[in-house]
Amino acid sequence: MAKFIVNGAKKKLTGEISVAGSKNAGLKAFAAALLTGDEVVLQNIPVIEDIARMCDLLAALGVKIESVGDRAFAVRAAELSSTNFDSEIAKRLRSSIVLTGPILARFGHASFPYPGGCVIGKRPIDVFLKGYEKMGAKIIEREDGSGFEISAKRLRGAEIFFRVVSVTGTETLMMAATLAKGRTVLHNAALEPEIVALAEFLRVCGAEITGAGTPTIVIDGVEKLHGGTYYNPPDRIETGSFAALGALCGKNLRITGCAPLEIMSLLDHLGAMGVAIARGKDWLEVSRPKVLRAVDIKTHEYPGFPTDLQAPFSILLTQAKGTSLMFETVFEGRLGYAEDLKRMGANIVVYDTQRAAFNGPSALRGREMESPDLRAGLAFIMAAAVAKGESIIHNAYIIDRGYERIEERLRAIGVDIKRAE
Ligand code: EPU
Repeated sequence: MAKFIVNGAKKKLTGEISVAGSKNAGLKAFAAALLTGDEVVLQNIPVIEDIARMCDLLAALGVKIESVGDRAFAVRAAELSSTNFDSEIAKRLRSSIVLTGPILARFGHASFPYPGGCVIGKRPIDVFLKGYEKMGAKIIEREDGSGFEISAKRLRGAEIFFRVVSVTGTETLMMAATLAKGRTVLHNAALEPEIVALAEFLRVCGAEITGAGTPTIVIDGVEKLHGGTYYNPPDRIETGSFAALGALCGKNLRITGCAPLEIMSLLDHLGAMGVAIARGKDWLEVSRPKVLRAVDIKTHEYPGFPTDLQAPFSILLTQAKGTSLMFETVFEGRLGYAEDLKRMGANIVVYDTQRAAFNGPSALRGREMESPDLRAGLAFIMAAAVAKGESIIHNAYIIDRGYERIEERLRAIGVDIKRAE
């Protein structure tokens, strides 16, 4: 299994790093392609393992996917050879659940296992099941508990209130509602930019949606969607991670092809730590200040501090002067990386599965570790970049799930990192 070897603490990172297309928006664009029999073209799709798994899953359902240039795909779901998901692939990809909405809406049936993905908490799917039920679908849980069969001749519009604010829940029910009979209103919807990007694409394809990006989304179902072209926006989590890296050990590190307005919470926290940031519409420039000040973090749905930036940001906290409190409110299992950071020399007191105190600054030493999820994986690379000596980060695959050729891109700005088998 591939691993990353990082030698740290040598020099400041500088130069330019450009941000790839969004993983989480791109994945949903593939799902949206199932809502029409026409061809859709998806552009600026990152070359990452999660996208490859999504393509495998769609190909197994009979969807035709063709590469049509650099990071662009033509996707055509004229018909499906099956509405049963390949369990092995679906279990490796949490976002497989979003396919259930379009498949159910267009083909009247979906059969799928419990979805997999990163182990960062319980990650239930009640929001999806309740939504489908409200839209008139019949749900049968398989007797052996391996998954579900859902059917509905045609979904009907419904008033749906989200008990928890769910990103994929909002996206999936929004997609399902585009082909339902009548009006669907999603209350307490998630506000993430990926939802706005998806709604814009659906509208290009003929859907009637208003309110995406606000807590109330109204969808008037139509008989049919048609093809269209989608341009995938930059990945805001990658943007934020690179900004945190710049604050950790950068000197005028320039981050290009990004949307700084989508990471305002992170930028505000960096400002509170004493980090000077220059920014334009689609670029950022970040340098490490002499002293990083401690700051408290509480993760929150958008536009609050993203849970996906919690682990990368924690590396900064290990280098900040004073005590920083970290409160993860979105997932209950996302501090699993703290033990490894402690072994590297970080002074972290973990109170429970969601709360920890970071006392800094502490000198980090290189270690061998294995990442619990993809965001913590990038955090380990960041920690290794400022640690003294060599670190080995096993299971590069988990990082490849979400970051394109990360070692090449980081090497170009001065990180001493290589991939080894
Ligand atoms: N939840 C429920 N019931 C459900 C669905 C969610 O209780 O049916 C709970 C979850 O357990 C969690 C909370 O609601 O406590 C919010 O979860 P959400 O559904 O918003 O998360 P998600 O849609 O599964 C997406 C991203 C995650 C990102 C979160 C939060 C995708 C494919 N995944 O997950 O991305 O952390 O939103 O922003 O879009 C990542 O990229 O590394 C990643 C984990």
